[in-house]
Parts: sequence; C-alpha cells; structure tokens
Amino acid sequence: MKRILISALVLLLAGWSMAAADNEDGSRLWLRLDNANATATITGVKGTAMTELQTYWQGGPVVLKRQKGMGQDGYTIKSQGGKTLITAANDAGLLYGAYHLLRLQQTGQSCEGLDIKEQPAYDLRILNHWDNPNGTVERGFAGKSIFLNPDPVRMKTYARANASIGINGTVLNNVNASPQALSTESLQKAKGIADQLRPYGIRVYLSINFASPIKLGGLKTADPLNAEVISWWKDKVNEIYRLIPDFGGFLVKANSEGEPGPQDFGRTHADGANMLAEVLRPHKGIVMWRAFVYAPQSNDRANQAYLEFMPLDGQFADNVIIQIKNGPIDFQPREPYSPLFTAMQKTPMMVEFQITQEYLGAANHLVYLAPMWKEFFSFVKPASLKAMAGVANIGDDINWCGHHFAQANWYAFGRLAWNPQLSSKEIAEEWLTQTFSLQGNNKSEMLSVMLDSREACVSYMMPLGIHHIFAGTHHYGPEPWYAPKGVRADWTPPYYHKADAVGLGFDRTTTGSGNVKQYPETLCQLYNDINSCPENLLTWFHHVPWDYRMKSGRTFWDELCHKYDEGVHATRRFLAVWDAMQPYVDSQRFNEVQHKLRIQARDAEWWRDACLLYFQTFSHRPIPQDVEHPVHNLDEMMQFKIRIGMYENPESGYTK
Ligand code: GCU
Repeated sequence: MKRILISALVLLLAGWSMAAADNEDGSRLWLRLDNANATATITGVKGTAMTELQTYWQGGPVVLKRQKGMGQDGYTIKSQGGKTLITAANDAGLLYGAYHLLRLQQTGQSCEGLDIKEQPAYDLRILNHWDNPNGTVERGFAGKSIFLNPDPVRMKTYARANASIGINGTVLNNVNASPQALSTESLQKAKGIADQLRPYGIRVYLSINFASPIKLGGLKTADPLNAEVISWWKDKVNEIYRLIPDFGGFLVKANSEGEPGPQDFGRTHADGANMLAEVLRPHKGIVMWRAFVYAPQSNDRANQAYLEFMPLDGQFADNVIIQIKNGPIDFQPREPYSPLFTAMQKTPMMVEFQITQEYLGAANHLVYLAPMWKEFFSFVKPASLKAMAGVANIGDDINWCGHHFAQANWYAFGRLAWNPQLSSKEIAEEWLTQTFSLQGNNKSEMLSVMLDSREACVSYMMPLGIHHIFAGTHHYGPEPWYAPKGVRADWTPPYYHKADAVGLGFDRTTTGSGNVKQYPETLCQLYNDINSCPENLLTWFHHVPWDYRMKSGRTFWDELCHKYDEGVHATRRFLAVWDAMQPYVDSQRFNEVQHKLRIQARDAEWWRDACLLYFQTFSHRPIPQDVEHPVHNLDEMMQFKIRIGMYENPESGYTK
C-alpha cells in the first residue's frame, strides 16, 4: 500500500514537473490561450472581434451585433437561447466584449447565464512611449523601442494585448520630442504603425517639439501667435491626416526641463496649447498638454505646476486636456496627489501614471503598482478626470517589460483606465491566473506578494514621506548624499530630505513653503499639523525632529530604522514565497523571476544600509537593537557608481 502511494506520488510529481517544464519566455504576455482550432461558430458583423473569437473561443455559438444607443466602446454580453450575444455601438466595443468573454474562459469562470454590461470610465485610455528616433527608450528598462523596426508579429501581440485590456491610444515617441518626429519620413513610419494598430481600435498620437517650425521648418520663430507659424502647423497637421486619417493628436512637454515652449516667445501655456488645438480641431484631434513644469529658482518644486497653471484655469480650448502627473514632484514611490487635480475647476484634466519603474527599482524589482494608483483615486475622484495616460514599460525584450511581473503593471493600467473602481486584488488575480497557471494556496501566496510589494518598496527605499533621494541620473539606487557642485539644487537629494541635526524632511506647512495651502481646506489642516499628518507623508510635509514621538511610541529615528528593516524583510519573504513556486512554474520564468527577486532583496539591504548610515551622520542616534544592523560600509557605498544611462536596466545594484 505504502509503495503504491509513493509511486502515485512520484507520478503526480512527475506530472506536475512536466506541466511546469514547458518553458515559457513571457512573450505571450497574459494572452496564453491556445488556438481553439476554429471549433466555435461566430456570426454577425465581421472584424477583429470575430477573428479573435474564431481563433480562441472554445465555447458555444457567439453572435456579434452592433446596436445604436450604447456608449462609445461599451458592450453587453448576454446568454440567450444557447448562444452568447455580444452587442456594442462600435467595432471596438464588440472587440472589448470578445476579450471579456475570452478572459472569462481563460480565468476558468462560468460562461453561462451571462448578463454583463460594461462602459469604460474614460473615452481615452492611452499609453505614452518615451521612445527616441534612435531606438533608445527614456526610462525604459526592457530593451529598445518596439517601434524602431516594427515587427508585424510583435505589433500584433502589442495590439492584442492593449485591446484585451481596453487601451485605445498610444503616443509613439518621447515627450522630450525630437523635431524629426514630424519629418515626412517619420510620419510615413507612424502611418505604418497606425495601420497595424487600427484593426484593434488603437489610434496613434505623437509627442511634438514646440520649436519644430524653427528646427524642422526653417522658420525664424515658433511664436504660437505668429501667422507663419500657425500656417506651418496647419500644413504639417494636414500632411499627418492625409497619411493617418484617424490620427489622435499631440502630446506636448513645453517649457519643462529645457524643452522649448510658448514662454520662450513671451506667450502662455494656454496660447501654445490653444494654437495647436485650433489647428487640430477640423480633424477632431486633441492636445494633451503636460503640467510637468518646475524651475531651479523656486524654493519648493512641489508648488510650481499649481502656480503656473492655476492662473490659466478656464483659458484652454475644449480639445485641450491638461496632463498632470499623479504627484506634484515626479513619480516617487509615494507622493500625495498633485493639488492641481482638486484646484482646477474649469479645465479638462487627465492623470499621467508611470508604468515604467523609473523610481521603483526599474525592471529588477517586483513592485505591483495598482495599489499606488488606487491610492491616488482615493483622493481624486475618477469622474473629475477626462482620461488616463500611462508611461509605458514596454521594449523589445522577449518578455516585453524586462521583468515578468512588470507585465502586471501594463495590465493593471489598462484595466484601471477602463474601470478605476476595480480593486488592486481583482486585477492582480485576473492577471496572475492568466499569466501563470497558479492555483489555490499558491495563487493566494503570490497575490499577497504582489499586493504587499508597493508598500515594501516604499519601506526599503523611502518610508515616512521621504522622496527623491535617488542616484543622480539613473534613479536606481540610493544616493541621499548626492550634491556635486554646479548641479541644480532641485536635482539633488539634500534639497528634498533636508537632513540636519534637528531632524529630517521638507517643511511644506503654512510657515514653511506653504505647499499645504494648495490642498482643499480639510486636507490643508490635516497635513499642516504634524500630529494629524498621516505618518506615511510625515517628512513630505514636515521637518520632523529625530526624537518626535510616533504613534507606535517609538521616536521618529527608531521608527525610520524599523521601516527600512521591514522593507528588507518583506523582500526576503517575496523570494521565499517564489522559491516555493518552483514545482508549479515553468523553469525559464521561474529562474528569471528568482534571479530578479534575489537582486531586489540585495538592493533592499543596500537601500536600508545606505540611508540609515547616512542619516545617522545627522541623527547621531544608535540603530535600535531589535533592528538588523547594516552589513555595508557607508564610505564604500558612497564610492559606488552604476555606469548606466537613463535608457538601461542595471545588471544588479550594489553587490559588495
Ligand atoms: C522625469 C524623468 C525624465 C522625463 C521627465 C518628464 O524627470 O526623469 O526622464 O523626461 O520626467 O516626465 O518629462
């Protein structure tokens, strides 16, 4: 009996490892349904929805039907008389309905008795690629641009992946835009991409360089009120629409970080945006004008977008949307929301999230970002926005995003742009079920890793409101000490952490930089008082004394040490949980993820040690006994440099 049991167990394990042995490289993303060999009967309007269902649907007959009266891109799915009926007002709606059905199939849910009605929260759900003409990707950690030499097979997967989660727009090039993006040659290329994406309901957009009339057109000025300039833009826009009739419009970074803009000609952001908007209007194009602006002379960078844009509230044309980063500084692991969102009342706004992990461990750290975006939506009502943009984490790496789990952030962005009410957990579960065939306890364990990962990252990098203490250029590791002579103060960490003998943090209270006053009254009061300010934003708004008593009863210094250490321990748990997944995941993806989780656990130690030892030179307080003590040497960490630019993912962090 015992022998029978053992052989049964051996067989079972062999079966498992066989199941797990089929190596996967991640190139299929979450779209891992096998071809269903065209067994299903699909009838109704022709289009991509029909092809997708014919290829992948394994259930009974499906009828696709267009029906007037429904909202753009919305759909219903109903089980009726042995058939499944998908109705929508447009082809894109039918396609989204088809993907919904396929998702139910792929996640093993019942496809009977369906009565589903969906309508996206936003008409525009758009990716921003920061891709350069030479194929590098600014803050891209997954290889080169997929648009450099667009491969039709990859383009198709890209289009399917986006459509499967409702993304319907893509900006093809970097916001730091080369004027060449509008050359006839580049536009021909953009047309090629647009043609491949159109069947999947995806429109293309371009980032433009505001000085293009000078740099590309040879004019003497790019003054938005100059007649010759306006006529140059009209001609250019006409050329674009001749090639791409459904072109979406422009994304503009102007007068920001050295990029040209209307202020160079004595004009305002509104003058610049409205000129472009009028030129695009006859074609139904839009302008997404970014509010990411700050100047070196200000005493608080967090104040600046508000100061520059609030006086213009109500002055923008109705086909302009102001695109605002979620936080007032720059995609930090934790920021309060940008106060512009609740202040501007008369201007359409959209949020810009960063899917690529510029400040969250690049493609080496597992950080599931939905909880961060949901946190934003707990302050800013989704309905107060017009659209949602996400800076893509996509490159030509075989697994698209550099880290298998970074695919979850692309997925989560799309799902939240469709429905910001979905929970982080629901989205993670959907993605995990489709991408890794984990079940039961294994699935729950990995879900908890994903859901805890953002807070863990905050803890080991920048707890309690600390921000922007990254290495100078590549933003990967810790360099809270980085302040070389001649570098603008607001590009150095001491500008943000302000560590001194008294304490740590940026005083943004009414008696400090006054930033709290940009928030609605109740929040202003909450943030202004150190005793009511949420502790997770404490040093964002206050210069906190080292001995300040925290809610835990610990001093601020002790709490800081504990937070850093908690982060380190969390990454070790993530690794241990993943290690236990080995029998259930194909070995290629298992090994690749394990390799990254090991880097992450080492990096977390590096972050803790570098930050605590450096801040200790100001606090002069001991690291508490019950916290694991640093294992690295501060001087050595201060000498260490990773020689990479802003286009690369580091092989690893500090390994000494
Ligand atoms: C950050 C990022 C830059 C980017 C900029 C932007 O500062 O580091 O690479 O160009 O944001 O969003 O415009």
